[in-house]
Amino acid sequence: MSKKVLITGGAGFIGSHLADELLAHGHTVRALDNLTPRVHLGGERPSYLDPQVELIVGDVRDGALVEKALEGMDVVFHLAAAVGAGESVFEVDRCMSANNVGTAVLMDRLVRSSVERLILGSSMCVYGEGLYRDSFGSPTEIPRRRPDQLRRGEWEPTSNGDRLTPVATPESKTPSIEGSVYAGSKYDQERMSLRFGRAFGIPTLALRFFNVFGTRQSLSCPYSGDLARFASRVLAGRRPLLPEDGGQLRDFVDAREVASACRLAMTADTRHAVINVGSGRATSMAEIARRMAAVAGGSTFGAEVSGRYQIGDVRHCFADVSRAEQALGHRAEGRLDAGLLELLDWVARQTHTTVKKSSPSYVQLELELAS
Ligand SMILES: NC(=O)c1ccc[n+]([C@@H]2O[C@H](COP(=O)([O-])OP(=O)(O)OC[C@H]3O[C@@H](n4cnc5c(N)ncnc54)[C@H](O)[C@@H]3O)[C@@H](O)[C@H]2O)c1
Repeated sequence: MSKKVLITGGAGFIGSHLADELLAHGHTVRALDNLTPRVHLGGERPSYLDPQVELIVGDVRDGALVEKALEGMDVVFHLAAAVGAGESVFEVDRCMSANNVGTAVLMDRLVRSSVERLILGSSMCVYGEGLYRDSFGSPTEIPRRRPDQLRRGEWEPTSNGDRLTPVATPESKTPSIEGSVYAGSKYDQERMSLRFGRAFGIPTLALRFFNVFGTRQSLSCPYSGDLARFASRVLAGRRPLLPEDGGQLRDFVDAREVASACRLAMTADTRHAVINVGSGRATSMAEIARRMAAVAGGSTFGAEVSGRYQIGDVRHCFADVSRAEQALGHRAEGRLDAGLLELLDWVARQTHTTVKKSSPSYVQLELELAS
């Protein structure tokens, strides 16, 4: 049945892919988005946003506007957020205000609405390190690596000197949010939404997205992610620069697959739950860089190990997707090479045509290319 759907942050990367997915399935889409300048250069409606999307430009912390945006809506996807773990450390106010206050304002106004389901875009960052098994095969949760370990280049986590084996991380893993303000704010959003949903009888799901990639990823933010940075190097005929030794395992999931999981969450027979949304596939940074170089032109040149690290980065985390399969009926198709090619094409078009030389993204990419 056709639904009227509000997507906060609907002009962004994931939100716009979700809008496409919903429109293609006959739903009506409204977006509430303040067109944050660091994401949307010039603060204009992005050209990739389907013209059928009704865009209300404004802030999710503006209660009166949120009330207006909720009018007549059946379902809300709450994706608006100040994104980026690294930045959140020195932009605490910006992060907490957009994410925590923004969610609180939305909750207040939802009570008076006719919305029948709330779906939050949460993040794998609430896990901190993923789950491991020790040498006896027992599941083991470990703290983040200490700065002195990273300084010594001891990349792999150990337990009492024993090497651990990374395994897929299920939703039951204890959250570990001390690594960044952003992680804390995403966990707060989850708690707030689920508590609210239970209290007011509005089925609520918090979807923990893993490493989402695809076209429309903002290149003007430092959080754009490793794949966009790899792409800029590959396009310049340079070897991608791998943080640490490139052995970190991640779960790279195509934005269109995330959009499809979100759509299924609208009608799933599950309520008040957190659900991982990933590909269910562990890929090392070195492997993804190699594949990107390969799809860019059959090149066999490898990546360059930089040995650089970021305090707070996790070593391995990839999704156990069994709950998404059972609860949403979502099976990731495993679009990797096709998605990488689309990303490369997107980055090429941004850097060569759309992006002005004075813009932060151009400067960022130039720095990448020059380094
Ligand atoms: N991209 C990923 O890999 C990833 C991974 C895990 C979780 N997430 C979550 O998914 C959601 C969407 O992320 P994205 O990658 O599409 O980011 P994005 O920055 O492309 O999109 C976010 C959108 O929200 C808007 N926005 C920001 N603050 C706002 C505010 N106060 N009021 C109204 N609009 C506001 C921005 O203008 C932007 O269009 C976020 O909640 C993010 O935490 C993303």
